[in-house]
Amino acid sequence: MASKKLYIKTYGCQMNVYDSARMTDVLAPLGYAVTDTAAGADMVILNTCHIREKAAEKVYSDLGRLRELKQEKDANGETLLLGVAGCVAQAEGDEIARRAPFVDMVFGPQTYHRLPEMVAKATGRKTVLDTEFPAEPKFDQLPVPSAAQGVTAFLSVQEGCDKFCTFCVVPYTRGAEYSRPAASVIAEAKALVALGVRELTLLGQNVNAYHGEGLDGREWSFARLIRALAEIDGLARIRYTTSHPNDMDQDLIAAHGDLPQLMPFLHLPVQSGSDTVLEAMNRKYTADDFRRVVDRLRQARPDLALSSDFIVGFPGESDADFEATMALVREIGFAMAYSFKYSRRPGTPASVIAKQVAEDVKTARLDALLALLVEQQRAFNAAQVGCELDVLFAAPGRHDGQVMGRSPYLQAVHVEAGEQVSTLIGKIARVRVLSAATNSLSGELLAPRPISSSGEAAA
Ligand code: 5AD
Ligand code: SF4
Repeated sequence: MASKKLYIKTYGCQMNVYDSARMTDVLAPLGYAVTDTAAGADMVILNTCHIREKAAEKVYSDLGRLRELKQEKDANGETLLLGVAGCVAQAEGDEIARRAPFVDMVFGPQTYHRLPEMVAKATGRKTVLDTEFPAEPKFDQLPVPSAAQGVTAFLSVQEGCDKFCTFCVVPYTRGAEYSRPAASVIAEAKALVALGVRELTLLGQNVNAYHGEGLDGREWSFARLIRALAEIDGLARIRYTTSHPNDMDQDLIAAHGDLPQLMPFLHLPVQSGSDTVLEAMNRKYTADDFRRVVDRLRQARPDLALSSDFIVGFPGESDADFEATMALVREIGFAMAYSFKYSRRPGTPASVIAKQVAEDVKTARLDALLALLVEQQRAFNAAQVGCELDVLFAAPGRHDGQVMGRSPYLQAVHVEAGEQVSTLIGKIARVRVLSAATNSLSGELLAPRPISSSGEAAA
């Protein structure tokens, strides 16, 4: 019986969202059930992100507030166990223990399966630190998921990175590239589908570099893994993130053409449109290489839409380099994208390049890029008006009678469904788009189209 309350605050990427869910699974046998505020919790875990400076700074300010909460609880004779997890913990574990000694447990992305031992050791006097990279992968120790948050779920299939882009902390915080065996991925996928999940997003820092042990004992490519997952009855949609352009092999491109479950929306970070900057970033492709990958993908799946990541103000980036990025964006056209100012990360090669770009230049470039990307996102959404889309309904909408779902392109779609709201959740139905905004669409249900829970709506 759950008797204690656990609050996990998750920063950063989807991999952290996945890890937080798995921490919940690990702590459930100890009697912890999830709550949505720190105030009433017996244990608080901050699952942190180190990717950019701002993300890491937030942790220390949150810790300041939690210290007060812990003191209040102490004064009332109650206990609050405090944990710092994730990538800041991995990168700065000792510093956290020194700067915030009231933290009970500090552990990295590869050791949270050992939470029960850490909880047992936490005496309130000294921070328990576990930021090793264990030889035994955590995935072998984690329980099968026993609860799902809804109709969509994340599933980590690959973790870590061996590519060493010069701006990036991931190889240091998440460790070397590791691919889970297909059998354990498929078992987890089946468990999630049995819990009502209809859409899976396969996760990895470099997910399309997947090369795990297959069901036949041989190494499987990512495409092979996706093909096996597509055979699971009831799994209607498959997505994946984040991929690297260089690992977009022919097999995977072909899978986009022939697997209806694989959604026609791909996050493919390009980072920059300048070959000079790409080389300094150690991305190992040129802007033209990226264009060619996109062409091949679009040939295989003409309705494919793209999202991407961009960094502006990478050390040495000139006006001409930045213009090359703007030109690439105009040429490719993105349905959405994330863009960031370059942030110096301690220990990474780019952080010590002498020619850092001035802050005001970074700001101006980010503003210009954002304006262009928002314009493209609006245009992409507006182009859907009048079209029919399959929508996977996930939750009630903003008011009674409204239901919210996601299009194949991950757009939020709001539909007036009257009495049908609860029967629609978890199902896929055909919708005609009536209007579009920057971040969402609204549409009407197309009755009496057949509604299916095991595949896209029948055409
Ligand atoms: N500064 C700015 N952005 C970064 N990213 C990764 N490292 C940095 C950094 N040091 C961005 C990249 C990556 C995304 C997850 O975060 O665009 O694709
Ligand atoms: Fe942040 Fe990267 Fe860690 Fe995800 S893997 S939490 S993006 S530092």
